Amino acid sequence: MNKRVLLIIGGGIAAYKSLFLIRVLARRGIASRVILTKGGSEFVTALSAGGLSGEKVFTDLFDLTDEAEMGHIELSRSADLVAVAPATADILAKAAHGIANDLATTTLQATDKRVLFAPSMNVRMWESAATQRNVKTLKADGQFFVGPDEGDMACGEFGFGRMAEPEQIANAIEKILKGDTTIDGLRGPKPLKGKRALVTAGPTREPIDPVRYLSNHSSGKQGYAIAAALGRLGADVTLVSGPVAIDAPACANLVKVETTQEMLTACESALPSDIFVSVAAVADWRPEGRSDKKIKKAKGGISSLALTENPDILATLSTAKNRPELVIGFAAETNDVLDHARAKLSKKGCDWIVANDVSGDVMGGDHNSLIIVTDKGEETFPRLTKQDAARRLAGKISEHFT
Ligand code: CTP
Repeated sequence: MNKRVLLIIGGGIAAYKSLFLIRVLARRGIASRVILTKGGSEFVTALSAGGLSGEKVFTDLFDLTDEAEMGHIELSRSADLVAVAPATADILAKAAHGIANDLATTTLQATDKRVLFAPSMNVRMWESAATQRNVKTLKADGQFFVGPDEGDMACGEFGFGRMAEPEQIANAIEKILKGDTTIDGLRGPKPLKGKRALVTAGPTREPIDPVRYLSNHSSGKQGYAIAAALGRLGADVTLVSGPVAIDAPACANLVKVETTQEMLTACESALPSDIFVSVAAVADWRPEGRSDKKIKKAKGGISSLALTENPDILATLSTAKNRPELVIGFAAETNDVLDHARAKLSKKGCDWIVANDVSGDVMGGDHNSLIIVTDKGEETFPRLTKQDAARRLAGKISEHFT
């Protein structure tokens, strides 16, 4: 990767880790140009930072020689990304409020590049109302964060506040430079702000009598992860879920249902929506006429259980008058995955089908191998955790709307 980062080293004990960061980045083909704040220079020297980066280190806003060589505005734009590590409570506060009284904060104000903050401070300072307010402001402005991590701190306390490790910061930098804004630990811009998303998840249950039902092994994990990923990108998410044993993401409005009919009704009431992702493993049939009383055990068993076809929620919403702009179905298949998925794309009238090979440990498991099938072709995701697969799908959904 042939890129350049402007690294602002703030005044914190973690500043020494930023020297390692310069080396880690260099190994990945990312050059660093360093601004060392006054506080930062109490912890590491310009000589070390310059030696490692192989470039002049900038320290003072009012240095006439520096300004003659490269003005601070030019400096702020000369990189592909600005990283602040360690980002102290002071830098976060100034950046959040537009205070520009030294070279580092002036550069943060002047830059037109993405900014990544790697906070580092005492746990109480990190948890203070003021810092949390400033972080929220910066995130709402579209800035990125990596860390802080939880652990033992230089001050002897334990908690959140430890700066992320250089490898972790370098990973975040690389991902942002590649355009991935959906990474864990980072909060990027909210590309789906103002969009409504409806997600179904989990199984449906079709009662046979008051104690028995027909259902399937769906855990709801993939649908819940997709709801969370869309919520993180700013969508207003309604999650219509069958019975599952996992907690709903805080960012989604949860509607709990049991039967397919209830799921359909809940989905129809959630319209209009811009996005519909139908992840639920909907029971295709329901017992014809539910018994009000528990069916008693008969000698020799029951010779037959009559089943009626359930409504197809995906097909119904695909053809609804107020059809969501982007309708995405899932195709759970055990064989001929792509052929079945392509057939479902047209049969169900959706825009994308996410083909899902459920012949292995997918149902109930933590990983998934997804193929996105559209009328333009296919995109195969590698085997990923359900969370990562969800983030990737949500990223693709947000691309559709930009
Ligand atoms: N689906 C739905 N309502 C149904 C059945 C399925 O909304 N009654 C949705 C699922 O949420 C999924 C897609 O349709 O997005 C495909 O589901 P799947 O179980 O793979 O296919 P079926 O339509 O049930 O067909 P088959 O069981 O024959 O593969």
